[in-house]
Amino acid sequence: MNGISRLATVISLASLFPLHALAADSKGAVEVVHWWTSGGEKAAVDVLKAQVEKDGFTWKDGAVAGGGGATAMTVLKSRAVAGNPPGVAQIKGPDIQEWGSTGLLSTEALKGVAKAENWDGLLAPQVSDTVKYEGDYVAVPVNIHRVNWLWINPQVFKKAGIDKAPTTLQEFYAAGDKLKAAGFIALAHGGQPWQDSTVFEDVVLSVMGVEGYKKALVDLDQNTLAGAQMTQAFTELKKITAYMDPNRAGRDWNIAAADVINGRAGMQMMGDWAKSEWTAAKKIAGQDYQCVAFPGTEKAFTYNIDSLAVFKLKADRTGDIAAQQDLAKVALGKDFQKIFSINKGSIPVRNDMLNDMAAQGFDSCAQTSAKDFLADAQSGGLQPSMAHNMATTLAVQGAIFDVVTNFMNDKDADPAKASAQLASAVKAAQ
Ligand code: BGC
Repeated sequence: MNGISRLATVISLASLFPLHALAADSKGAVEVVHWWTSGGEKAAVDVLKAQVEKDGFTWKDGAVAGGGGATAMTVLKSRAVAGNPPGVAQIKGPDIQEWGSTGLLSTEALKGVAKAENWDGLLAPQVSDTVKYEGDYVAVPVNIHRVNWLWINPQVFKKAGIDKAPTTLQEFYAAGDKLKAAGFIALAHGGQPWQDSTVFEDVVLSVMGVEGYKKALVDLDQNTLAGAQMTQAFTELKKITAYMDPNRAGRDWNIAAADVINGRAGMQMMGDWAKSEWTAAKKIAGQDYQCVAFPGTEKAFTYNIDSLAVFKLKADRTGDIAAQQDLAKVALGKDFQKIFSINKGSIPVRNDMLNDMAAQGFDSCAQTSAKDFLADAQSGGLQPSMAHNMATTLAVQGAIFDVVTNFMNDKDADPAKASAQLASAVKAAQ
């Protein structure tokens, strides 16, 4: 059974249960399920909350802790099955289509605001297609994250005798050796499946290039998944794992980021939400920390677009529908797009802002990100992130996560066997 029919089967049970209306105040309320709970993430989502409240609506916070969002998605599914979905939820990529096919997302609520605010003109087609279901907007995109970043503490590099950011895997290993020799954690990391696969997809991109990444993790081509280049990627992944803290199991990504910020570790491989932690700690890009593309991925941009999907509410809940519409309007407004991304570490999703980042006060990391996003959209280097739900269904993603995490936790794991397992796990999940 594919992902869509699996989700549809589960959700169809929802019709057996009555809908519980949220107790709304007179103007309307919106409950938002999301997983933005780290210090930096919370600062970002608080910007949206404040604006919705300023507009007179009640914000009900449905935060579910857990980076990458797997726990939030489980909570969302069980609420949908119980006939009690929130007004709005953070849902991304192809998953939006799966939810759309259950009939639970609203194809009506965003029609007016999308037209009045000219969303079709503001968004690149790759972005608007992702958030539309059968031609209608069912979600509002809030930002663009780049996943293939390496975060560096230059003070730590200096203490370890490293004078520049690595640009090849060999230089990365050389830096890792020096960091270890100087007593630092070379690569801060949290041993959670989504973090493991964030590292894995960077390595696939570095070893196999954009074409190989696309064939393997987007097109799910069996020969590429099981091929010699994939075995090479697992070989490099094994080397990289050796630079991570052995006590990493279960550690949250923001705790790993704090290790780099506080000078206990030299580097972290993480998407640019990691920058939100540096910003929250009042650190300056290019001065207190460096952001560089993971070695070998300079000409690529693995994207991850956060979006907020809108659930269908009973027609008599006019105040709550108005709250959904207000949130959507705010989310694509210029002011919000700027302040949210500055706090979140991302870049705006609006075309008219991406060309003009320095003038709007974005830092050097965000400027590089926007420049690369626009260039890679032309060259084909712009690719959806597998680890962040942009490339495949959650079922396929889960199968990949299992193979990768088992591999990273088994010192004796064999790279050739891992690529064969990857191919068969993906096939079984399709
Ligand atoms: C989301 C980000 C979030 C990160 C860590 C990613 O999948 O897109 O918005 O900050 O997970 O929780």
